[in-house]
Amino acid sequence: LASLLTFQITILNPDPFRAAFESYLERSIPEEPESLYDPVRTCIKSGGKRLRPILTALCAGVEERDLSWLGSAAAVELLHTFTLVHDDIMDNAATRRGIPTVHVQYGRDAAILSGDVIVALAVKALAESGSQAIQQKLEEFAKGFQAVCDGQALDKEYEVRSSLSQKEYIAMIELKTSRMFELAAVLGALDGPIHDLEAIRLFARNIGLAFQIQDDILDLTGDEKFGKTIGGDVLEGKRTILFVLAMEKYNACGESDRILLDRLRDRKASEDNIRPIRALFERMGVLNEARTIAERYTDDAEAHLLNVRSGAQRDNLRAFGQWLLGRAI
Ligand code: IPE
Ligand code: IPE
Ligand code: MG
Ligand code: MG
Ligand code: MG
Repeated sequence: LASLLTFQITILNPDPFRAAFESYLERSIPEEPESLYDPVRTCIKSGGKRLRPILTALCAGVEERDLSWLGSAAAVELLHTFTLVHDDIMDNAATRRGIPTVHVQYGRDAAILSGDVIVALAVKALAESGSQAIQQKLEEFAKGFQAVCDGQALDKEYEVRSSLSQKEYIAMIELKTSRMFELAAVLGALDGPIHDLEAIRLFARNIGLAFQIQDDILDLTGDEKFGKTIGGDVLEGKRTILFVLAMEKYNACGESDRILLDRLRDRKASEDNIRPIRALFERMGVLNEARTIAERYTDDAEAHLLNVRSGAQRDNLRAFGQWLLGRAI
């Protein structure tokens, strides 16, 4: 988190934002039943990057002291937290934010139900986010919520597909990841002077794509700071951007490389295969290609910023997008 705070963005630096936001989140969690809310509290307090609330704040474009966007930011972060808890069950993930995942620590039943109730807390936060544009906020929230579920369904469907086009991959991550960034941005914009809503929406969608591509890259190349099991996607046979790009070059590969790619495609890769697969992707240029694609989506995002009238907001959002691209956490 320290590196997040090096942002040259006033709203991100000061403690008022963090402190107010974190205490708002904490206050939204009931005490009992403990079997339900202990896991909720654990995952909410486990130190996420809070990227979506930061985006909400930036898109509201309000003064540092004006915290009218707090409810919206909490609603998105809570919805995001629900997706993580259920995603970790679906992806068989053992570690998140450097600690055991909810289903590992508390069991599967507790993880399912805590995930569910976090959505209820999200809706409450949204309801508390003020009456301004509440109807539209509700619609956007429901759309984002449904989109993540649609995307997660495709993510699971694609796991058993032997090939996937870049187009299919992008459509899937747009749903499972981008739409949550879009929701964060749009709710923020609706809390602000509501200028430039469509530009902000398209900016967020595009940085969301770059963000998921970077997540796929870090899943294989990150270090312990990333907080998740490195190589987790390889072990689970996830259809990441790296998989898609590597399979495009399958026919140009030699025999032993193909054997490795076959294992990945057939979801039989083991711990021992992680380093060789990383080395192969490096050699094939797949990692660089993925980085270039993420940069391209960030460029596309920045192009939409030209339609945002506030110079300060443009600068902040550009810095945010660039930070996402360069992140290692
Ligand atoms: C992880 O999101 C889920 C993806 C969409 C890849 P983050 O990397 O923003 O997760 P936290 O909240 O910071 O842990
Ligand atoms: C993220 O996909 C999409 C979500 C809706 C959570 P991932 O499965 O890649 O997310 P991480 O890597 O587990 O955070
Ligand atoms: Mg997943
Ligand atoms: Mg996952
Ligand atoms: Mg991932």
